[in-house]
Amino acid sequence: MDFGTIGAGTIGQAIARHLVAAGHRVVLSNRRGPDALGDTVARLGPLAGAGTVTEAAAAEMVFLAVRWQDIPAALAEVSSWDGRILVDTTNQMTGLTPRDYVDLGSDTGSEFVARHAPGARVVKAFNTLFAQYIEPDPRHGEGRQLLFYAGDDADAKADFRAVAEEIGFAPVDAGSLREGGRLMQVGGLLSALHALKQD
Ligand SMILES: NC(=O)c1ccc[n+]([C@@H]2O[C@H](COP(=O)([O-])OP(=O)(O)OC[C@H]3O[C@@H](n4cnc5c(N)ncnc54)[C@H](OP(=O)(O)O)[C@@H]3O)[C@@H](O)[C@H]2O)c1
Repeated sequence: MDFGTIGAGTIGQAIARHLVAAGHRVVLSNRRGPDALGDTVARLGPLAGAGTVTEAAAAEMVFLAVRWQDIPAALAEVSSWDGRILVDTTNQMTGLTPRDYVDLGSDTGSEFVARHAPGARVVKAFNTLFAQYIEPDPRHGEGRQLLFYAGDDADAKADFRAVAEEIGFAPVDAGSLREGGRLMQVGGLLSALHALKQD
């Protein structure tokens, strides 16, 4: 399977680093264009490349790692998803304080994302963890870092689960985008729950 990231900041790079370490090719993209990613992909090594958002989104599994307010513009660059998997790592926060929370009413953040990516099979993941728990090798002496995920497409979830296992996390299915997504989004029971699974 090939991989792409839309967004190449803290979270996009952390996920790309895990994928490259597992031997996968990853195309990273950002807002400023591939030329601004030269140092980043050089640090990640030869399996990493820089591309446009369209090029990154052509991968079979694409990680969305932009700030909440940038989601519509980033996803508008992708004309067609054709069933490719979009892993939504975002949180509905425009900043870091509680007043920056974006209340969508009965809607969940990933349903908002899914509406901006028609045809994508959306899986919610990584958003519950702080970056310092995503960045290191998730295999610790005491156990593997739990990684909650949610989605409505069983095959997409199975593919995501396999990738999450391969890069060292202990994936836990939280349910559908609506129910699981609600548990996982900011304010939900699973948000900022950092735990290890003993094997
Ligand atoms: N940091 C955390 O602890 C953490 C943990 C879990 C989840 N999250 C969520 O993960 C998401 C990303 O957070 P982050 O900390 O990685 O943010 P970040 O470091 O600020 O990176 C954001 C990235 O998005 C890119 N971007 C912005 N607009 C874009 C567009 N229109 N098209 C393509 N790329 C675009 C930026 O590109 P440029 O550099 O070119 O502007 C940058 O590479 C957020 O939704 C956040 O809530 C964060």
